[in-house]
Amino acid sequence: MKKSILLLSTLLSASTAMAEKVELRTPNNSLVLDLNKGAEPQFVYYGPALKSQDIAQLPLLSGGRAELYPAYGATHTTSETCLAMRHADGNMSTQLLISDYKIASVKDKAPNGAERSGELLTITLTDPLYPTTVRLYYQSYDDVDMIEYWSDITNGEKKTVTLTQFYNPLLPVRRGNVWCSHFHGTWAAEAHLYDEPLTNGTIVLKEKDGIRNAFISRNEVMLSLDGKAQENEGAVIGASLLYSGPYRVTIDTDDTDYHYYFAGINPDNSEYHLKKGETFTTPHSAITYSTKGTNGVSQAFHRWARRYQLRHGNQERMILLNSWEGVYFDINAPGMDQMMKDIASMGGELFVMDDGWFGDKYPRNVDNSSLGDWAVDTRKLPDGINGLLRDAKKNGVKFGIWIEPEMSNTVSELYEAHPDWIIKAPGREPVLGRGGTQVVLDMANPKVQDFVFNLVDTLLTNYPEIAYIKWDANAPVMNHGSQYLPMQDQSHLYIKYHEGLIKTCQRIREKYPDVVIQDCASGGGRVNYGLLPYFDEFWVSDNTDALQRVRMQWGTSYFYPAIAMASHISAAPNHQTFRTIPLKFRIDVAMSGRLGMEIQPKNMTDEEKDLCRKAIADYKKIRPIVQFGDLYRLLSPYAGQDLASVMYVGEDKKQAVFYWWKLETFMNQHFPRVKMAGLDPNKTYTIHELNRIDTRPLDFEGKSFSGAYLMNVGLEIPKSHIVEYHKQNDWSSRVLYLSAE
Ligand code: GLA
Repeated sequence: MKKSILLLSTLLSASTAMAEKVELRTPNNSLVLDLNKGAEPQFVYYGPALKSQDIAQLPLLSGGRAELYPAYGATHTTSETCLAMRHADGNMSTQLLISDYKIASVKDKAPNGAERSGELLTITLTDPLYPTTVRLYYQSYDDVDMIEYWSDITNGEKKTVTLTQFYNPLLPVRRGNVWCSHFHGTWAAEAHLYDEPLTNGTIVLKEKDGIRNAFISRNEVMLSLDGKAQENEGAVIGASLLYSGPYRVTIDTDDTDYHYYFAGINPDNSEYHLKKGETFTTPHSAITYSTKGTNGVSQAFHRWARRYQLRHGNQERMILLNSWEGVYFDINAPGMDQMMKDIASMGGELFVMDDGWFGDKYPRNVDNSSLGDWAVDTRKLPDGINGLLRDAKKNGVKFGIWIEPEMSNTVSELYEAHPDWIIKAPGREPVLGRGGTQVVLDMANPKVQDFVFNLVDTLLTNYPEIAYIKWDANAPVMNHGSQYLPMQDQSHLYIKYHEGLIKTCQRIREKYPDVVIQDCASGGGRVNYGLLPYFDEFWVSDNTDALQRVRMQWGTSYFYPAIAMASHISAAPNHQTFRTIPLKFRIDVAMSGRLGMEIQPKNMTDEEKDLCRKAIADYKKIRPIVQFGDLYRLLSPYAGQDLASVMYVGEDKKQAVFYWWKLETFMNQHFPRVKMAGLDPNKTYTIHELNRIDTRPLDFEGKSFSGAYLMNVGLEIPKSHIVEYHKQNDWSSRVLYLSAE
């Protein structure tokens, strides 16, 4: 049964008019709402799929507030509300009652262009006093456990109304021993995981950078309903706001039996003036419910993302070398040619030329000039991009290029021509960012949108062989002001910026559906599902230190699939932490995401190149398992056991890859034996170590074990590598490939 609208009039008191329970169903979950014309919409249930007779018996919420979309001022004043608005006449109260609702099957195109099918529930709310209409939308997917919901607000009044708060509908979560997992960090330390119990009071996750909304707090949360999160057990709700701009997520716990989850655009300094007849649409929220712990939530998000929310989620990613940490701004034609040759010789498929290739009047030699002047610096690259494409072809690799389209520097020809295109507070000098000169272009301005589109359009029209673009964004909004928006609408800056950005991305994707584009913002500053329909992957962090990457990629994996996580082998000592980590460990970590390299191969020994060559060859074999398989997190780097372990299992469970990383070394250290997960207990798997450096094979090399044994007993992994004395060190890691008949 997919759709159920159950008539419950007999169960309800006489004062209640005909009330209907509406179920929205995904393969394993039900969301049940109570919709009663003339009343406020009510939340009833979200959890494992229910039978219709059970839905009919579901009680309405008691001990808490069930209203899905409380609006401020008429009946909701003392508790957190989803919507707050000032009507044209100044009235600050709004009351929203159901005037209509409908549920319909939909087949449409998902944001990444894939066909999808499911059901769309539309609930229309109106205010008895004002011609304001709010529509709440809930959309289910037939094949993945994901429900998206959002709202739009239409001003039917004669004059402009002002929106001061615009969360999506809320989600009540029954109190108990509920824990919240969320993600925090900063530049070079993104997505560290924090678990805490929900007690009384409010948790607020928010972002106010303006451009990069994923550095400090991520908007995603997992709510574990049966106590502290476990990877493979327990009920967990996962929620994400699919938005590129400043957000606010609030989990409010008051004197009722519920926690209330709210997510939406951050309303701070963003009141929105909605003109007569205009409609304001909020970004979507996406939620899933798992009975199989946090892994279950992750797998649902990964599956949904690969199918519907990530560009080209069903296509294997290329193995690449990026020039940044290898040469930084020191770009020149022979240097690029050498890097292309080196990555090709190790089996790589793509070379990406990073920052430093452009600027005519002002050459981009350091980070203090030239953004916006997207003409090749022919002093560095006399044969231009054609020369690079020629060299790429000669070396047998594809070619990619770095741009930072939304930015400029005060030292640039672009800024000289269009000082009015930048974001800056009215009447004040601009505040300057990176390099002491960086400024942000105002994406609210259609001329800037055209400029950004034309940059990509010109590159891809003139050089259709460009296979990959790295799209960077390295500045926040540093002072508030749009030179494009009228003074009375300055508070629209953040919302209009991101509207303009998404519009431009959509335009690019309409014309260039195939090119691979990486989403980068000083590292992982823009890891958000608002942008990913237009991007194939993201740069997890500017920190390429393998040890810290274990933690960052673990946190990132809660919501984002490995196929999207750019994970590169870089130099030792590491350029961010200055830690010296052996190549073997660096490879073993990078191979758990979308493998790449970010190193000067010229400085590598033949032995090191050989190890990378073998790793790349092996990665090609396991690539479909890592990029399309199901992730199982086995042992957390946050658990304090000096060890971390994950695995990926192919859809048919015939192949899997197991990763084991030792994070600390002490004498008298005692590690748990890591039990695997996700295998078929009845299949027999043969074990084969990848990236082996030991002089003799592991005891279980080439041996076969049942899935049941691997999951219940596990393999005993030695604490260190058996290598020649002078090659010994304190690091140890293993990658095992499992295959079944
Ligand atoms: C940012 C990116 C880096 C690199 C530099 C180039 O910091 O995150 O990967 O592209 O910019 O300036």
